[in-house]
Amino acid sequence: MAGNSFGKAFVVVCFGESHGKCVGTTIDGCPAGLPLSEQDIQAELDKRKPGASKVSTPRAEEDKAEILSGVFEGYTTGAPICIVVWNRDVDSEPYESIRVKPRPGHADYTAYLRYGGFNDYRGGGRFSGRVTAAYVMAGAVAKKLLKTVGVEVLAHTVQIGSIKVSRKITYEEIRRNVYENDVRCADPQLAALMKDEILKVKSEGDSLGGVVECIALNYPAGVGDPIFDSLDADIAKMMFNIPGVKGVEIGAGFNAASMRGSENNDEFRIRKGRIVTETNNCGGILGGLSNGMPIIARIAFKPTSSIPKKQRTVNLERMEEAELMLSGRHDPCIVPRAVPVVESCMAIVLVDHAIRLGKIPPTSISPPQI
Ligand SMILES: Cc1cc2nc3c(=O)[nH]c(=O)nc-3n(C[C@H](O)[C@H](O)[C@H](O)COP(=O)(O)O)c2cc1C
Repeated sequence: MAGNSFGKAFVVVCFGESHGKCVGTTIDGCPAGLPLSEQDIQAELDKRKPGASKVSTPRAEEDKAEILSGVFEGYTTGAPICIVVWNRDVDSEPYESIRVKPRPGHADYTAYLRYGGFNDYRGGGRFSGRVTAAYVMAGAVAKKLLKTVGVEVLAHTVQIGSIKVSRKITYEEIRRNVYENDVRCADPQLAALMKDEILKVKSEGDSLGGVVECIALNYPAGVGDPIFDSLDADIAKMMFNIPGVKGVEIGAGFNAASMRGSENNDEFRIRKGRIVTETNNCGGILGGLSNGMPIIARIAFKPTSSIPKKQRTVNLERMEEAELMLSGRHDPCIVPRAVPVVESCMAIVLVDHAIRLGKIPPTSISPPQI
């Protein structure tokens, strides 16, 4: 199966299946000298852990990160970094029904076609949300690298079903509140409404979608590789690799289509000796290059496709129409657990481009003179 790596300088490979032995990542291109521990990875992984609340799947994985290579005496060595979590709480039995009867809305049918029926269908296999544990492990390393040059990546839930955040949220609110509630919303009152909405829909045997906003602060200006490795194109590509993503907007996004040029243009100003823009409708990216303003992306997730309702499907072996009543353990809404995944994906793209242009310098402990 090709297509499992991302990046040119910070190359991330993600491996593993939902009900296989493990899920993991190998990072090739992380500079030597970055302090890195399993606790660093764990702190990020715990944010997307399954079984942590009533609005997530009851699958209870410990998700304990193990660094297998690339770190020595607490520092990255420059060699490939391999990090894994082992799959422990696996129950494949409910997935026997989908072997030949694909779930509407999931990848079972298309994966069956692409891999001639040889794909691991258990728990959705490679197409399970579980693979995003690997994105988060790689993202943890990317975030640490970005922090060395003062870049911060934040994400928060801005919509679940019909409940939307419509006021301006401050960065401080995001930092303070997002991981204090089960739905990862920076507004605590809306967070309570969103949670009630998910539980209501879950009790009806159904699911919800929503939107996550991601913001990167202090990213250097003039980074990106147009025309085919533009920063916005790579952000969109990486975000679309999160299962369940159906839309990516940068800055004003689709709203820009109904604005006038005079409204949409971000006028340049000088503040404290720095070139900034008055507004940020471009979401920090012009011509595929960062302009030094916050990079802003919004990611739309569809409602979880696996729902405990009778649905029509087909029997692929018998070539006849069939019915499917799903069991198994599922997230009634993907969005809360996707928030740290979105943060990680943004960090992976930004670190890859920053390393390409030498914006993240290699570290050294006064090398010997040869
Ligand atoms: C963190 C996370 C958890 C997910 N959990 C589930 C789940 O429990 N049940 C499900 O049907 N889909 C879940 N998904 C989404 C599916 O993996 C996804 O819909 C499927 O692979 C088909 O891909 P597509 O929706 O991008 O076309 C999850 C996605 C993420 C990011």
